[in-house]
Amino acid sequence: MPNTPPKRLASSLFTATYASRAAVGASAPGRVNLIGEHTDYNAGPVLPFALPRRTVVFAGPSPHWVAVSSRNGAPTRFEPDDAPVGDWTDYLSGVVRVLREMRAAPDGASIAVASSVPQGTGLSSSAALTVAAARALSRLGGRQLSGDAIAEVAYRAETEVVGVRCGRMDQVIAAGARSGHALLFETGAGTMEQVPFPLRVLMVETGVTRHLTAGDYNLRREECEEALQAVRDAGIPAEALADVPGQALTMLVQALPAAHFRRLRHVVTETARTREAAAALAVGDYLRLGALLFDGHASIRDDFESSCAEADLLVASARTHGAWGARLTGAGWGGAVLVLAPGDRMARLKADIVRDFRTAYRRVPVHWETRAAGGLKTEPVP
Ligand code: GLA
Repeated sequence: MPNTPPKRLASSLFTATYASRAAVGASAPGRVNLIGEHTDYNAGPVLPFALPRRTVVFAGPSPHWVAVSSRNGAPTRFEPDDAPVGDWTDYLSGVVRVLREMRAAPDGASIAVASSVPQGTGLSSSAALTVAAARALSRLGGRQLSGDAIAEVAYRAETEVVGVRCGRMDQVIAAGARSGHALLFETGAGTMEQVPFPLRVLMVETGVTRHLTAGDYNLRREECEEALQAVRDAGIPAEALADVPGQALTMLVQALPAAHFRRLRHVVTETARTREAAAALAVGDYLRLGALLFDGHASIRDDFESSCAEADLLVASARTHGAWGARLTGAGWGGAVLVLAPGDRMARLKADIVRDFRTAYRRVPVHWETRAAGGLKTEPVP
């Protein structure tokens, strides 16, 4: 049932699997990061928006922990206290363990999950799952947690239990998105500002999924920590990479190993770009916003080295054919490219980009248009 809405799918899956009616439900979206990549664990800003594509979780009381997903078919028992088993139930275990610490977990649950968020495309299907599960399971445990608290549960589940040392962007946008807006989240200060974002966006998937993403990602994070230490050793008392002033780069190029300098330069310039992008968006200057997106992509490609050839081709093609801007979104090493363009040029641009990709890779990339949607919701049980 590929086109069935995930809410219907999750609820019918629950009834079919457990022969009863769920007690609670919740849903949360995937996200696209407009700009601000790999800044969230360096105390910099991010500017994501939520997708209309969502993950829905229904749950009911049970003496055990058992979960079924429309993607995996058979119900699986899991033990939240066990070591991670390497599948999607690790995310649920993570959520349960953090909720238990807060005395907000039920004793057990039957869980059914369905999602329209594509997996492995850098659109944060994992935060959609953990945020929706944290809301549903805390409700089942008799607690009403705020959106902020839910985002924190989901963040801790992923970092402490699943073991991806991510920042807080994905969980925060999944919990706090507002329809028609992007969210400027200053991860260092913890401040948030909703910025109107009325545009339609073209998404083009590279079709490249890196199962090693967590390894590459954690490695980049270590490099950022080492770069910060080298910056401090060079006499700049920065608390985080995003705090390093742009003017210091000229001096630091000598002080840091070449690769570490490139990671630093990405974070420093991306921090400035993200703040400027939010300002451009706020006044509807889409030309400037787009130029910043192109620059951001070049920085990911050359300095952070987290792009891939397929994404580079899509971005170059979008530029050649007159897009306002384009860049690879999310953790990187594969995933999807977002393209901004005037509405009346979109259809033509789409055809041109798809043709260029097809000529190079002999396949048509999955592509779709979208716009900024809302965040976490409690779902009434049907
Ligand atoms: C992943 C992480 C986020 C963020 C991005 C890169 O999506 O979960 O915290 O670091 O990568 O910007």
